[in-house]
Amino acid sequence: MPARLDAPLKVTGGAEYALDRHLPGMVHGYVVVSTIAHGEIESMDVTAAKSAPGVLGVYSPFDPLTLNPVTTPMFGDTWVPLQDKEVTYVGQPIGFVVAETFEQARDAAALVEVSYRELPALTSLEDGLDTAVEAAPGHVDAPPTLSVLEDGVSSIEEALAASPVVVDATYRTAAQHHTPMEPHSAVAAWADGTLTVYSGNQAANLQAVELAMALGLEPSAVRAVNPFVGGAFGGKGRTSAPAFLAAAASRALGRPVKAALTREQVFTATAGRAATVQRITLGAERDGTLVALRHDSWCSTDSARSFIEPTSHGTSREWYATRNLAISQRIVPLHLPPTTFMRAPGEAPGSFALESAMDELADALGMDPIELRLRNNSLAPPGRDLQWSSKHLDECFRIGAERFGWAERAPRGRADGDWLVGMGMAVAMFPALRFPASVGVTLNADDTADIQTSGADPGTGLLTVLSLVGAESLDIAPGRITPRLGDSALPPGGMSGGSTATASAGTAIMAGAAQVIDELLAVASAPGAPFAGEEVTYADGRVHGAGRSMTFGEVLRATGRPSLTAVGSSAPGEELTKHSFSSFGAQFVEARVHRLTREARVSRMLGVFDGGRIINERAARSQLQGGMIWGVSAALHEGFEVETGGRFANADLAGYLIPVNADIPGIDVHFVEYPDTLHNDLGARGLGEIGTVGVAAAVANAIHNATGIRVRHIPIRIEDLL
Ligand code: MOS
Repeated sequence: MPARLDAPLKVTGGAEYALDRHLPGMVHGYVVVSTIAHGEIESMDVTAAKSAPGVLGVYSPFDPLTLNPVTTPMFGDTWVPLQDKEVTYVGQPIGFVVAETFEQARDAAALVEVSYRELPALTSLEDGLDTAVEAAPGHVDAPPTLSVLEDGVSSIEEALAASPVVVDATYRTAAQHHTPMEPHSAVAAWADGTLTVYSGNQAANLQAVELAMALGLEPSAVRAVNPFVGGAFGGKGRTSAPAFLAAAASRALGRPVKAALTREQVFTATAGRAATVQRITLGAERDGTLVALRHDSWCSTDSARSFIEPTSHGTSREWYATRNLAISQRIVPLHLPPTTFMRAPGEAPGSFALESAMDELADALGMDPIELRLRNNSLAPPGRDLQWSSKHLDECFRIGAERFGWAERAPRGRADGDWLVGMGMAVAMFPALRFPASVGVTLNADDTADIQTSGADPGTGLLTVLSLVGAESLDIAPGRITPRLGDSALPPGGMSGGSTATASAGTAIMAGAAQVIDELLAVASAPGAPFAGEEVTYADGRVHGAGRSMTFGEVLRATGRPSLTAVGSSAPGEELTKHSFSSFGAQFVEARVHRLTREARVSRMLGVFDGGRIINERAARSQLQGGMIWGVSAALHEGFEVETGGRFANADLAGYLIPVNADIPGIDVHFVEYPDTLHNDLGARGLGEIGTVGVAAAVANAIHNATGIRVRHIPIRIEDLL
């Protein structure tokens, strides 16, 4: 069995993504987007577009497709296109043209004439800071402000004033975008009142629910299919505009419809990561013990305030033992595209601020940055009684320092020819979560087994995890398991988001396997069956009775059954009242800045992670390496640049900088492996998001070590190091 089951299909072109579907009679849709940042559409002249060759339908807020509002417990409100005339950002979907061919739809879309009544637009976080409002409860899973003060201390200001050493600094992080390889897209087809939608997303069952709600159908009348997803890091959680539009247009026209965003449209007609401003004030004793930690955050959000990037809550709420803590989270609604979950929402930009500030504190104290972290190691989140279920961050530091050669770090870096070389480190944390999940476990008469759940594998390796955990739970070789996912017709799995998929689906597999084994034993020992009336046990894929055994396939064949299925379910429960749960890690970076050109490069990286049990080492390693690369990207490359008027200067992969192979050194990933069975029976915690957390700070800290220049914003560019 290959280490990644999907790998051969992906590298040979055999993996079928949404847009690879070609259905008989299929037609093509093209999305029209707004060209102003704020206002109302006064009119849309679609006469020329409607009479263009091959055009079958032109839809707009004046002649919309029928789509209902969509609200789900998982995501809250999901935006549904074409239902009103208000424009709140450049690049908002405002029309949809369907034609016989893609080219005809695109050409006709260019003929749509839109006139707007423009309104003033606010498109800069800096310009909006004065108008910031408190994040409403519900926007983050905690109140917007929180403070934990020790007895006798009346305010965080008092605690800071009493601190012998204080660091107070403001950090800024750029807005970012997911830019998945596979643009948001869909193929939708109706047959006998039932809709089938092929569209890459993070959970087939959630997609089916949202589409059913939008179209006013029973959930059972919608089937969402996504066996392969070309990248999804939060940006394919909600149903995309093309999926809603293709589904509704297909119903209106009675033809299968394919629709995809262009690369440029992906940057605006989906959602990205907020820009943030974060002020951190740390007060410490001279030995490094934290007396007070204050973290005030501001983030951009769209005018509907659909998502808050919870930087203060994501980091300062839990990372360090501090006697006094005060955090706040404010939002600045802007006329820019929506913001949403993006890999480690909160923790990724939050850790840049917190871990830069900790480095500044170490500097102010003349203390080793690792020593400072160890001194403030938290046994439980401040103000909460529940201890971490399993925390081996100190071991991550110890192993990391050893492997990376931290002892050779000089307080002012070193020179290597024309390069100034420095080392930096940072902590990584990401909460360990689970979602409810159900998985079907089927034993077949040919001694194979099926493991099935709706879910999604956005390249994270979940398909292989199903097979590995299924094999272990059924005590057979992984090669005998056929895993299936990415189809809402299968038992409702969790979602590939929040670093939850392995823990969620894995525990459900264990439950399903235990159930199906119980049923098998009952079948095997029933009257008339091969082990009638005997004490039977199960091991090694076999039913064992008095002095002999049969494979499960033999038992099924002997009892005239083609297969036996159980659906296992698992959800977070009582463990939440007993412990706090998180994955942990230590990030190490060596950075070089050229003495003359001031170019910054990352030359070595190491991440040591404590993520509980590792199920598939190769997939886990790639997840973490990918996350660490994303961290370098955030530190040195990525940033969405808004021009006056709310247009994006770099809404394409030429202008939106991401690292290429030459920008990334060899990456060393190491695990300290302590199965966390207090969190779930499988013992695995999440690894998807923690890889990126802390890296940007480690890069900035390494650059500071190399040059003495403290850059308090990302991305860090040449002009910051002059
Ligand atoms: Mo990720 S932000 O959990 O999809």
